[in-house]
Amino acid sequence: MAAQILDGKGLAQKIRAEIKVDVEKFVKETNIQPALAVVLVGDNEASKVYVRNKEKACNEAGIKSLMYRLPAETSSEELLKLVRSLNDDASVHGILVQLPLPDGIDEQKILDAIDPEKDVDSFHPENVGLVSQGRPRFLPCTPYGIQQLLVRYNIETKGKRAVVIGRSDIVGKPMGMLLLQKGLGGDATVTICHSRTSNLGEIAKQADILVAAIGKPEFVTADMVKPGAVVVDVGMNKIKKEIVDENGEKKLVDKLVGDVDFDSVKEVAGWITPVPGGVGPLTVTMLLHNALTGAKRQTAK
Ligand code: GUN
Repeated sequence: MAAQILDGKGLAQKIRAEIKVDVEKFVKETNIQPALAVVLVGDNEASKVYVRNKEKACNEAGIKSLMYRLPAETSSEELLKLVRSLNDDASVHGILVQLPLPDGIDEQKILDAIDPEKDVDSFHPENVGLVSQGRPRFLPCTPYGIQQLLVRYNIETKGKRAVVIGRSDIVGKPMGMLLLQKGLGGDATVTICHSRTSNLGEIAKQADILVAAIGKPEFVTADMVKPGAVVVDVGMNKIKKEIVDENGEKKLVDKLVGDVDFDSVKEVAGWITPVPGGVGPLTVTMLLHNALTGAKRQTAK
């Protein structure tokens, strides 16, 4: 039997509607509009799309989005200056610097400079520490979105074997951390695999919950998946795929695929997220949640 679809897009709409109500309530109570500053440096095409999605989602939720688009030649010093001025601006409640930054900019130095109270990505070392101790200010958006997906679909994580493929600071490591935490959406037994893991396929096959975030197109195949497993695909890979057109001729077309070979894995898994329409919309949704959380925290002081 084919897997059931975890509809990230639909769930994202539902959670965004909830956030919109919360934003309206906050504005009514405080007369303050939550504001998120989004900084994009350079011309990375994927980043441009992500940033546009974030801007649109903010506007729809009643959150003010302040866009800063800077040229690729921007120096670390110039970018630091912008981050510091946003830190000092009380009308800005959240700061997001879109990654990756162009070569020549010291990414860690920039992320370290963001006021941890405004760090809606939860990338600052202080916030990473707080997440790992189970007392977060902000939860990192993609892992948080995946956790919401599991919780709201009533997928039990407690006592389950969770395998995360990928060890990035943005997804893999914090995803492992959230699944490990005590409580709802946590209490799993977690393994993090990566490009240097031996027997990755065997380990993946033991997973009740398998999260693929390795950045390799269609990396996870059916033979790596336990029958009935929950498969969450974080990948967003643009590839050239050969198709046969209506005249019977072969041609190459652009296709967006995940880190999971959807067509084969859906025959084995119990649940699966599609790409697009799975994890992506939830990442943006949890960013909205975090921007509102930032505004609430800073106003309560
Ligand atoms: N680039 C890819 N994903 C993300 C994200 O969640 N936040 C930021 N700031 N950059 C990213």
